[in-house]
Amino acid sequence: APSDPDLVARATAAKEALGERLFILGHHYQRDEVIQFADVTGDSFKLARDAAARPGAEFIVFCGVHFMAESADILTTPEQRVILPDLAAGCSMADMAVLSQVEQAWELFEAEGIADQVVPVTYMNSSAAIKGFVGRHGGVVCTSSNAKRALTWAFEQGQKVLFLPDQHLGRNTAVLEMGFTLDDCVLYDPHKRDGGLTSDQLAGARMILWRGHCSVHGRFSLDCVNEVRERIPGVNVLVHPECRHEVVTAADYVGSTEYIIRTVEAAPAGSAWAIGTELNLVRRLANRHPDKTVSFLDRTVCYCSTMNRIDLPHLVWALEELVAGRVPNVITVDPQTAHYARVALDQMLALPA
Ligand code: 13P
Ligand code: SF4
Repeated sequence: APSDPDLVARATAAKEALGERLFILGHHYQRDEVIQFADVTGDSFKLARDAAARPGAEFIVFCGVHFMAESADILTTPEQRVILPDLAAGCSMADMAVLSQVEQAWELFEAEGIADQVVPVTYMNSSAAIKGFVGRHGGVVCTSSNAKRALTWAFEQGQKVLFLPDQHLGRNTAVLEMGFTLDDCVLYDPHKRDGGLTSDQLAGARMILWRGHCSVHGRFSLDCVNEVRERIPGVNVLVHPECRHEVVTAADYVGSTEYIIRTVEAAPAGSAWAIGTELNLVRRLANRHPDKTVSFLDRTVCYCSTMNRIDLPHLVWALEELVAGRVPNVITVDPQTAHYARVALDQMLALPA
């Protein structure tokens, strides 16, 4: 639906009034009504880099979810303030790994005598507390666009990896891109005693996958892939690596949101694409490429409900507060956590290209 013209005018006026003091970042899953006001758009890797590259902006308004805003706070200067227009915009996957649970897993590794072999790697989609844990233990952060590079680096530091919190990104990268087998991977379930694993399983594993997942991407199934191939002959199936292993295995292309956009942009006119990722992005791609058939991999609607919480009314409210001299919804990470989280984030930013 077209955005409310009154709200568009108010957002435009507030943006103009704030000028260079303001920088708006928008993740690719944001609504069109919000994306139109973003100074830059990107996947979570690009947004982390872009946030760090704007030391002049006093206010970074992050149109995305909480863990992204936390990372931006860690990577920006202490004077800069990161604002999340709706504090309820979290990420259910990030919530699946809590610091106390990860500490408990580490105690188990210590008791089993394997802790010194394990390098923790956390997906960007995790709290600053988890990133801090990973930084304290010599690990690295990764995103969907550099998971292979991060894992390659981690396996140069130790024999085993604890991958948090997305089992699918961990498994898909290790098995489909790095030559590991499914038997090299075990699943650590934080809700089970000893993670639901035996000593032998832990001793034999190369990839210890945390039992977390994205509920949005978890909805795509192998049936969706088979069904779309039947319905649209010659279709290219393009999915995000947060999808389940059998879905990614059956797809033709896999990559981050930025990769998905680049791939569709580079595709020839007349080509057909079925895309397994969040719906705001797929709809935008379909609208931008009327010469290509761009469809959603699932037959039902599936937005990321927390990404969608950032809507135009929330953005207008946040911007008008700033104009009025108040700074709403500031996301701050305590200095100790931020210090170690930054170690793990800097390690990611330093990965060889
Ligand atoms: P990207 O890094 O690919 O943008 O993914 C972020 C995300 O939350 C996907 O669910
Ligand atoms: Fe989190 Fe999934 Fe939403 Fe991405 S799409 S922000 S992983 S819940």
